[in-house]
Formats: sequence, C-alpha cells, structure tokens
Amino acid sequence: MNDQCLAEAERLSPFGRRTEYPCRRRLPSTVLLGAALSMSLSALAAPGPVAEADIEKRIDALLARMTLEEKVGQLHQIARTGDPTGPAAAGRDEPSPGALVREGRLGSMLNITDPREAGALQALARQSRLGIPLILGYDVIHGYRTVFPVPLAEASSWDPALAERSAEVAAREAASVGVDWTFAPMVDIARDPRWGRIVEGAGEDPHLGAAFAAARVRGFHRGGLAACAKHYVGYGAALAGREYAETEIPEPALRDVYLPPFRAALKAGADTFMSAFNSLNGVPASANHHTLREILKKEWGFDGFVVSDWNAIGELIPHGVAKDKAAAARAALLAGVDMDMQGRCYSSSLAKLVQEGAVSRAALDEAVRRVLRVKLRRGLFDKPAPDPEGSAKVLLAEAHRQLAREVAQDSIVLLKNQGGLLPLPPASRSIAVVGPLADDGANQLGPWSAQGKGEEAVTILAGLRERAGSTVTVLHAKGCDISGNDAAGFADAVAAARDAETIIAVMGEAQAMSGEAGSRARLDLPGVQQQLLETLVATGKPVVLVLVNGRPLDLSWAAAHVPAIVEAWFPGTMGGAALADVLFGDVNPSGKLPVTFPRSLGQVPIFHSVRPTGRPTSEERWTSRYVDERADPLFAFGHGLSYTRFEYSGLTVKPAATTVSGSVEVAVKVKNAGARDGREVVQLYVRDPVASRSRPLRELKAFEKVRLAPGEERTVTFNLQPKELGFHDDSGRYGVEPGEFDVFVGGSSAAELGTRFEVKATAAAP
Ligand code: NOJ
Repeated sequence: MNDQCLAEAERLSPFGRRTEYPCRRRLPSTVLLGAALSMSLSALAAPGPVAEADIEKRIDALLARMTLEEKVGQLHQIARTGDPTGPAAAGRDEPSPGALVREGRLGSMLNITDPREAGALQALARQSRLGIPLILGYDVIHGYRTVFPVPLAEASSWDPALAERSAEVAAREAASVGVDWTFAPMVDIARDPRWGRIVEGAGEDPHLGAAFAAARVRGFHRGGLAACAKHYVGYGAALAGREYAETEIPEPALRDVYLPPFRAALKAGADTFMSAFNSLNGVPASANHHTLREILKKEWGFDGFVVSDWNAIGELIPHGVAKDKAAAARAALLAGVDMDMQGRCYSSSLAKLVQEGAVSRAALDEAVRRVLRVKLRRGLFDKPAPDPEGSAKVLLAEAHRQLAREVAQDSIVLLKNQGGLLPLPPASRSIAVVGPLADDGANQLGPWSAQGKGEEAVTILAGLRERAGSTVTVLHAKGCDISGNDAAGFADAVAAARDAETIIAVMGEAQAMSGEAGSRARLDLPGVQQQLLETLVATGKPVVLVLVNGRPLDLSWAAAHVPAIVEAWFPGTMGGAALADVLFGDVNPSGKLPVTFPRSLGQVPIFHSVRPTGRPTSEERWTSRYVDERADPLFAFGHGLSYTRFEYSGLTVKPAATTVSGSVEVAVKVKNAGARDGREVVQLYVRDPVASRSRPLRELKAFEKVRLAPGEERTVTFNLQPKELGFHDDSGRYGVEPGEFDVFVGGSSAAELGTRFEVKATAAAP
C-alpha cells in the first residue's frame, strides 16, 4: 500500500475514517472465483484473452512505458457525435476522437454502432505508440436490433435463465458490430413507480433483483460483451420519484435492499460498475468514498473499473461539492471512479493534478491498471475487427426473434380475468382492437431500444390479425393518441366496438414516458385514454384492457369496471405475436408482478417488504391507515393469474429447528387444479417476528417456476439457510438473530399458507 494515496483517500473520506486504500492488495477468493468465471466465459466469447497470471505483468510493463498523458487518456471516455475518424467537431477545444486515439489519449468511446467505424477506430488504436485498444461501450439494455421486453417485463417472468438467454442474444448482436461492453445490467431497486427508470431494472425486491442481475451478467458474457452493473448506488430511491433527485438511505437499508443486486452482479463476474448521478445521504454517488472505495473495492474486492455515468463527475459542480472541474476530477478519482464518461474532467485536469501532487501517481496508476485489466481480460488486445457482412446475418436472426417472442410470452402478467373472459373462446367471431398502442411498433419497443426499429416490430394489431386468420374478424380503430385531448376518434372506436363480440383496448404510455428523464407525477393513463376506456366499457361489450407501459399504473377504475386486464409492459419486437399467443390461449400466461401496483398515487411508495407498525392496519380509526383509501395494494408483488388454478397444501419445514449455520428444507405441494397445462411461480417469504430491529412483514427468499399438467401435483422443495435470514445494523455489520421465523409459501406475496421454524444459537464450543 502506498502512503500518499492512503492519505488522500482519508482526506476525501466523507466519514473521516482511516480505511485501507486498495492500491495493491490480495483479492478474496470469491472475487478470484468471479474473475475466473469471467475469464472462462470471455474465453468462449472473445478471442485471445490473456491468462490471468500474465495480466498484472502485462499491465506493469505497460504502466512503465506510459506517459502521464497516455495514462489519463485511458480514463477518458467520449460519445460519438459524428464520424469519429473525421475532423474535430466545430467549437470543441479537443482534437477529433480519431486523433486522440492515435495519440493514445482516449481509452473508450460510447455509441459506436457501425462495424466499419468500430474497426477503423480500433485500427487507429493499434497504430498508437502502445497499441492499447479502445473499449467500446453501448447501452444494450434489453436487446440490440432484436428488442426483448423491457427489463421490468423480463423480471415478470420470474425466470432468470430466460433473461440470461436474452442477454446473450442481445450481446451477440451488439458484439457483431464491434461493441465490447454494455452499460447493463441496470440493477437499481425501485419502489416508486413515479421514477421512470423503474422500467430498466427488476423491480422492488433485492432477492429477485439479485437473481436477474447475475443472470444478465452471465448472459452478456456468453454473448461476448463486458458487463457494467449500474447505477451504483441508490439511484432508485430518488426523492418523490423525481429523476436525478437526492436519495437518503440508511446504512442497513443500503446493505439489505439496494446493494444485494450489485453484489450478485459482481459475483457473477461483472467487469465494471457505473457510478450514479444521485447524491446518497448528501454525498454524490460519483464521489462517494464509502460506497466506491470502502464497500465495492475494499470490502467486496472488486478489481475491475468504475465508469462514471454521463458527465456525473462534471455534475459534482452543480451538486455543490466541487467548485470546478479540477476539484470534481480529484474528488471522483480519489473516491474510486476510474473512468470519466463524457465529463472531460479527467482529460482536462488530471495530468495537472498529478503534476502538482494533488493526486498521487499511485492513485492514477491504480485507475489505469483497472481499465487495462478489463481490456486484457476481455481479450480486446487481440480481438479481430468486426465483420459487417457477418454482422448483418446475426442482427434480427430468426432464432433471436423467436426468443424475443418466448420472452414476451413469459413476461405478460394476467392481472384480472373475471368470469374467465380470457382466453378468447375458440368460437370467437370478431374482436375490436382499439387504442393508441394497438398499432405502434416504435413505442412498443420501450425506452433504451438500442438499434431496434419500430417497423420491424410485430405490433399488437398485426399479431392479433395474424393469429385470427380468416376465422375471426379483426376491427381496428385508434380512438385517440397516447397523450393530448383529442377525442375525435372515439366515434370510430365505439363503432368498431359495437360491431365486435369482444373489445381489446390497448392503452398505456409512450416509450419516452419512462426510462431516463421519464419520471411522472401521475400514474394514470395519459391523455384521454381513460375516457376512451370508460366509453368502451359503456357499450356493454366485454373489454380486455391490454397495457403497454413501463411502470405500475393506477388501475383502480379499470380493476373495478373492466373484466380482464393484461399487463404486457413494453413487449419488444415480437410483442404483438406474443400477446396474440396469450389472448387466444395458445400460451397460458405465467408472469408475476416484480413490483407492487398501488390503488392510488397517494399510496406510493408501496412495496411488499414493509415493516409492521405498532398499530397494524384495520378498520379501526387509530391504526395505520388512510381515511380515504385502503392501505393494501391493488395488485400485490408476485401476483399474476393463469388460465388454470393452482392449489397449495402440506407446507412443512424440516427439521423444525436448526442452527444459524445449518439449513432447513421447506416443502410444499402444488397442484394444478384446473383443466389446462400451466406454469406457476412458487414463492417463499420469511418473517423474523421478534428481533432487535423491527423486521419486514415478508421478505422474498426463494422462488421456483414449475410447469404442471392438469390435475398434476408436485412437491416443491427449497433449501433455506438461516445465514441468509439476517440483516445489517447501523454500522454495516451483518448478523442473524436466533429465534423463530415464519415462512409463507404461495403464488404471491399475499400467500396465506404459513408455518414456523426455529433457529437456535450455535452451541458454544466446549
Ligand atoms: C446516462 C444513463 O444514466 C446511463 O444509464 C447510460 O448508460 C449512460 N447515459 C450512457 O448512455
């Protein structure tokens, strides 16, 4: 360890604690394992990764030869704004990207999606003095050219293996054009549907979020991309759901709720982390020594690199913690941000800061080492140039479209199905497909749709028409736009509705209403869609409401008046085909909500793992309730119906008592009591009823998706380890408290079947 960088780290620590600055340290075995895993996966995907043992030697040799400018260059990342190999952009006080690359003064670019450009840039990098390749990053969030359902939708499948396959395909398509690195998975826990970026993650729960985080990292690796766990950390807790707003997260909640998906991504081999925009307890996440240096790099032993979010280092100035770019650069680097995305703070200030001694050479070298380590591990030094013709065959390949259809089928959640309105009866003669999202390929792709094209999407109308063939008449009227006040199209919609047996109303949000900068202060159907829905219901014809959207909406009116509600989310390229599969009953829906749906906006934030109160909710006046709304959600976390019915019985825990280091087997019988083949997500929740801190009423601890034939009964067993039932205290220490634990198993977080087991303190050694 280097004393100077230790001193700097201490000065910058918001807690003023003496912490070990990880300039050089031994890695814990979990990290070595993660690294080994990432090595073996990258060995499959990218040619020529360097053996782990040789990597540090290669880095030492490079560092010994690099100039100060070349070192700073490795930490500089800019976005494509025009032909990167052409002349410099007018008005910019910086050479063109191509010139920077040739001079070894650029380590990374983002948004290069033309394989010829990627090849030309990497050729320039090879011609630079030390021949260090660029790492080319792109937001491959839920697909590249083939667009899969948005991540929140994929999480509704409760099938991480499926998300792993879609991530692999997305990565393979992106890698074919020369992308090396995806800014994904986004693993922020989000409990406030006003926040637009809730659509990009796996929802409200750390256990489910961790499973999807790890699966996506594995998938990206298999498809040939480096992964980036983002946005580290706490971004999802934005105050009042307002984009970029501050977050206040006490240490126990940070560690129990927000960090687990990041930890899981790291264990799965995440190569990089992205530091977030938000301030966390007053310290911006991109200058947060505690989360970056102390937790991520020291405690967890992360040895890849941290990239800032877009100009998040420059934004330390408006955050009010740095007076200029130099101060911002110094704060971010010392806190542990290794690469500056688009902020030009490192490129403009770091060399001088080092020359003046304000940042040590060791601190700079440490950041450069991390970047080079990832480049070497991913085999970028020997990677062949992308082949544009080969890429054309990969993009939107038929197998990719079929997988997108499968993922979309599994992501659809049947929220309500009164009287078994769905599936549409085989004798159906006519349907009216109405609403602004019925025939809108572009919006159905959702935010962050990469190189997906609306015209390549199977819209819901097209999917239903295709499936209906000549036996079912499909009438169509748009009715209204997604937003705006124009109700002129209502008459056509009503006319179509009157002529049909069943109305399929396809409504929801535009893609720009969620994702980054997509926060909403309302959770209603935008524009005049609600009025259109009410008009359609007033015809007396049965209505199926199909939602295309990126967040839980306020569906109270619909839940009371519309017999069937289907949550399709933004379903991607094959959304229409998948929806037709479900509505016509070719596929039995099996999605479950990864996030709670409120009854009204005033309940927000609402999530299943709340703590009890001293006055549990009841009809009584002086209890935890609203005077004008129920306290329970409209649709609970984990809720989702099927065209069949599942029954749970015979819940047992064996042994009935164990120790903190032991384990128990939880078994439950699940029966398909209906007449159709179906899949059910069996969910296990735990409660610690008496502890030193009040513990959540329910916490998801395990789940399994099973397929059952009609009448089939199966025993599903879970191995539950008490060491996973603990929690963190204010100082960040983790512990499991012996005592009794309640366990509930069922098809949603409202599962009623429960029992209890005991965790005894481990007997003291004699
Ligand atoms: C800003 C977003 O917050 C982040 O998620 C994304 O990866 C970067 N921009 C790069 O596009």
